Amino acid sequence: MDSVHVALGERSYDVRIGQGLIDRAGEEIASFLKRRRVAILTDETVADIHLAALTESLSRQGIASSALVLPPGEATKSWEMLSRSVEWLLEERIERRDVVIALGGGVVGDLAGFAAAILRRGVAYVQAPTSLLAQVDSSVGGKTAINSRAGKNLVGAFHQPILVLADTDALATLTPRDFLAGYGEVVKYGLLGDAEFFEWLEDAGPRLLDGDVEARIRAVRRSVEMKAEIVARDETETGDRALLNLGHTFCHALEAATGYSDRLLHGEGVAVGCALAFELSARLGLCAQEEPSRVRAHLSTMGMKSDLSDIPGDLPGADGLLDLMAQDKKVIDGRLRFILTRGIGAAFVAEDVPRDAVRTVLSEALAGRT
Ligand code: GLY
Repeated sequence: MDSVHVALGERSYDVRIGQGLIDRAGEEIASFLKRRRVAILTDETVADIHLAALTESLSRQGIASSALVLPPGEATKSWEMLSRSVEWLLEERIERRDVVIALGGGVVGDLAGFAAAILRRGVAYVQAPTSLLAQVDSSVGGKTAINSRAGKNLVGAFHQPILVLADTDALATLTPRDFLAGYGEVVKYGLLGDAEFFEWLEDAGPRLLDGDVEARIRAVRRSVEMKAEIVARDETETGDRALLNLGHTFCHALEAATGYSDRLLHGEGVAVGCALAFELSARLGLCAQEEPSRVRAHLSTMGMKSDLSDIPGDLPGADGLLDLMAQDKKVIDGRLRFILTRGIGAAFVAEDVPRDAVRTVLSEALAGRT
């Protein structure tokens, strides 16, 4: 079984990666429990597929459990569902020394993590991510949040899990579209800091999509290693953790422009955003023009969205998208902050990126000229 350590002093934990981890969850979790009882937060889609296996595994170790099954989808990251989850955990008499399990994708993980952060001023929780996006990104690093009317992830807390169980068998139940959306975040790691990993993905990507188990485990492990290393350096994003946001300033504007709808999944927006960040870097003379082309070529080979023209429906013009970017959490004092790059695997945080360069890149992309 692969394991990656997230080194954060007394908040350190392991991310276990491999097959059959939901079936072995009871053994993995038992040593963390002061009493043999846990509460599970999940959603309807995931519960249908994985909840019975999880509760049976827990009960084989003599661990009693109860579950709250929430509606699936981004709308669940709401004040209403947070309140429902916290009140339910209190009714279940989950105490300071108990453990909550988040079984599901990024929505469940973010909501359950935040509920655990505020319940009795903080209880421990285990992430059992079932989507590729959650396994390589959102379940690791302790960012928890719900959405507000003012925007996505604007209400939340840093609260690290005590254990992450990334069962790669769960990836077999994803639709190709959801798998590829998560793959957008995998590609991001190669692009931001590991050119060799990106090169390997160029070769192995199609096998990953076809279900090659070893390749999937390797991709999840390398992504988690990179995230763990960055989070250990900068837990609360005062510096280098921002590198994980490669492609995200463009992505957040595109998600807002498409109403956080099915038109563009988050990971799809990340992939398109990475291509645009490389385009912007090339325009600013930071990297060769071949680099954005290489990024796009890989995304296209994988059958992913790589351009604004791949997003169905109308988009605002370049100025409209720039206005949406100005609302991003990464904008400080109105200055446009981007993750730019000197090439594949060489991203850095750039403050005060010229608006005109961003506008030109967006205008050209909207006109289909990239
Ligand atoms: N998803 C970006 C981060 O965890 O910092």
